[in-house]
Amino acid sequence: MAGIVEELGAGATGFAVGDEVIGFTHRRASHAEYAIVDEDHLTPRPAGVPWEQAGALFVAGTTAYAAVHAVRVKRGETVVVSGSAGGVGSLVVQLARQAGATVIGLASEPHHTWLARHGVIPLTYGGDVGGRIRAAAGGTIDAFIDTFGAPYIELALELGVPGERINTVIDFPGAAKHGTKAEGSAAAASDDVLRELATLIADGDLEIPIAGVYRLDEVREAFRELERRHTNGKIVLRP
Ligand SMILES: NC(=O)c1ccc[n+]([C@@H]2O[C@H](COP(=O)([O-])OP(=O)(O)OC[C@H]3O[C@@H](n4cnc5c(N)ncnc54)[C@H](OP(=O)(O)O)[C@@H]3O)[C@@H](O)[C@H]2O)c1
Repeated sequence: MAGIVEELGAGATGFAVGDEVIGFTHRRASHAEYAIVDEDHLTPRPAGVPWEQAGALFVAGTTAYAAVHAVRVKRGETVVVSGSAGGVGSLVVQLARQAGATVIGLASEPHHTWLARHGVIPLTYGGDVGGRIRAAAGGTIDAFIDTFGAPYIELALELGVPGERINTVIDFPGAAKHGTKAEGSAAAASDDVLRELATLIADGDLEIPIAGVYRLDEVREAFRELERRHTNGKIVLRP
């Protein structure tokens, strides 16, 4: 979430009324006009970070950050990402590129141009996707980040990726069955991570594509679009 500090609690010292901030709360307040947020869960909104992207940093940004760190992406490695143009995936691919990896992104064709523009090798999912990944990688596939769900853990294992270098943010039964990682937002929920991601956006090094912005009274339509599961980037609610 992102917003303006309206009131300070007793003892709050780091912010002033009127400050523009990015933050989070574990109280499920994403539909709220006002939220009570711990001071250490806030970071200033840098100039140059649009409100929509600022608001999308938690949870999509923190989830992507956790997923990339979970598999320890290194320079020169090859990483495959499922759901690579979605809210979480579109950030995973950019963070993995920044770590110096070759990134193969699974997505439908309408999203291939966006992926290629971000230095990602786009591949259509379905059919013999494993064969297409092997051909595109041309060698070892070091890590796999799943942001879609089954059957991608099994596919990653078939491609020879070790369990400790596979992370899913959604297929928790699959992760438990196969012993892969399943780190998500909770692993990166901090003001430090939000500050780091916001700085990347402000510096022009990270883009959060905004698939749509909805008013609170349009929330049903926002969820209908989300349910279709074909967005490029984040759907944002503006309470
Ligand atoms: N663990 C956590 O902390 C955490 C936090 C946030 C989200 N999540 C979970 O992460 C998942 C992704 O969230 P999101 O907001 O990124 O979703 P999203 O924006 O709806 O993205 C879904 C993506 O899935 C792709 N897709 C659709 N069908 C596919 C298929 N058969 N194979 C591969 N990809 C396919 C779509 O790509 P195309 O349009 O190109 O088809 C779309 O870009 C959700 O399940 C969400 O609940 C977990």
